[in-house]
Amino acid sequence: MPDQRHPPGHRQTGTAELKLPNGKKVELPVYAATLGADVIDVQQLIKAGYYTYDPGFMSTASCSSDITYIDGAKGELLHRGYPIEQLAERCGFLEVAHLLFHGSLPNRVEKTEFDRRIRYHTMVSEKVGQFMRAFDSTAHPMAMLICTIGALAAFYHEGSDVGLVDSRYDNALRLIAKVPTLAAMSYKNSIGQPYMYPQNSFSFVENILYMMFGTPAEDYRPDKRVVKALETILVLHADHEQNASTSTVRLAGSTNANPYACVSAGVASLWGPAHGGANEAVLAMLDEIGSVKNIKPFLKGIRDKSSGKRLMGFGHRVYKNYDPRAKVMRKICHDLLPRLQQEGEEMDESLQIAMELEKIALNDDYYVKRNLYPNIDFYSGIVLRAIGIPNPMFTAIFAIARTVGWVSHWRELHSDPEFRIGRPRQLYEGSKKRSVPARGAAKKKAKKAR
Ligand code: CMC
Repeated sequence: MPDQRHPPGHRQTGTAELKLPNGKKVELPVYAATLGADVIDVQQLIKAGYYTYDPGFMSTASCSSDITYIDGAKGELLHRGYPIEQLAERCGFLEVAHLLFHGSLPNRVEKTEFDRRIRYHTMVSEKVGQFMRAFDSTAHPMAMLICTIGALAAFYHEGSDVGLVDSRYDNALRLIAKVPTLAAMSYKNSIGQPYMYPQNSFSFVENILYMMFGTPAEDYRPDKRVVKALETILVLHADHEQNASTSTVRLAGSTNANPYACVSAGVASLWGPAHGGANEAVLAMLDEIGSVKNIKPFLKGIRDKSSGKRLMGFGHRVYKNYDPRAKVMRKICHDLLPRLQQEGEEMDESLQIAMELEKIALNDDYYVKRNLYPNIDFYSGIVLRAIGIPNPMFTAIFAIARTVGWVSHWRELHSDPEFRIGRPRQLYEGSKKRSVPARGAAKKKAKKAR
């Protein structure tokens, strides 16, 4: 299966002239983007003896890509050109996975074939289950995932043949298929229940629920509304351009590392509360607030920078308008939760606190001035909790979805004509060159002084 990548060469639309401190001028090519900002190619600056400085990559395009486009000012997210709202409404997770992975939405035949291929790979070696059992039941699922996804490299040696297109394809599919199995196993390990083998008569999403909540003692049929909500959550999280974890996978991949090791690195990066770990952190924060009456003092505490606290689930590096994924997730929250409540499920107070928090924060000049809007994680944690996913599994669910994005970017990287190892430089501000004192010199100096 060929990787999807356009032929070499960018469309140059002009040049940008840069005057250097030594008076020399450099002409830098400007390339057209299909959508969004054009980029200035600074590669030749090194020949003039300069690097660019951009901590946090605020204005740096680390690669060119055909997969996902975000317009942060408009609050727009497109996968291969399709708006996320439409994908969430009209497509299942594996259709979106096909889109990201292959570049097009599948027709009926392609969909069946893609599904079949993924299902074929859902099992993992029994030995992986044994590694998992070695973890204490208090181990966080993300810690177990990092370890066991990386461990798959020990079972698929051909994964290291990253130069082979077919090997890249097979191992990327294996990752999409096996990460849910490992995630569910990590949960079963933490509650001391037997692992449930994947049941391939179930759909991809049903299988996740079955492997997490089924037991050998009883028949398990996932609730259709829960399946639908989880399917949408996976679609919304499937990819997000060059975010921290995807950039981590790309950087690891640029060394020709084994794909299981690269995705394991991606999971590590995702875990942080500034990124995918935010969904778990939002719920912890809502629990900490505890009641609607505590919101105002809590927000006051956040304004005080010395507290080091942030309003979890608010703000985004790219969106300076409402996160379009959060809009979809907010709607699910409002549709699903009252229905569950009508059926006797306990309405979680966290939703009420979240709604009130959103209202107050969106009218607070601290958040207005900084364009801080709720992001996807503000709502995803609440929905995940409502459908019965335990808090420590929230980020693992995110990882299941984002694996599709990671492997799509990893394949794109490997088929990129500009592929080379990622190796940033730095602004060195340390000591100038100096000599290590000769052995005993300090003692001799002290003796002489006496
Ligand atoms: N609560 C309070 N203040 C904030 C927040 C927040 N959540 N986010 C940013 N700020 C303030 C920040 O203190 C700074 O203020 P000032 O200009 O006075 O110094 C200003 O807004 C700009 O912040 P920044 O740190 O330069 O923004 P960033 O683009 O580097 O950070 C972020 C983006 C997502 C890491 C940050 O907004 C954050 O920490 N949010 C909370 C964690 C969160 O919800 N993360 C999930 C992101 S969406 C899911 C995903 O894609 O992974």
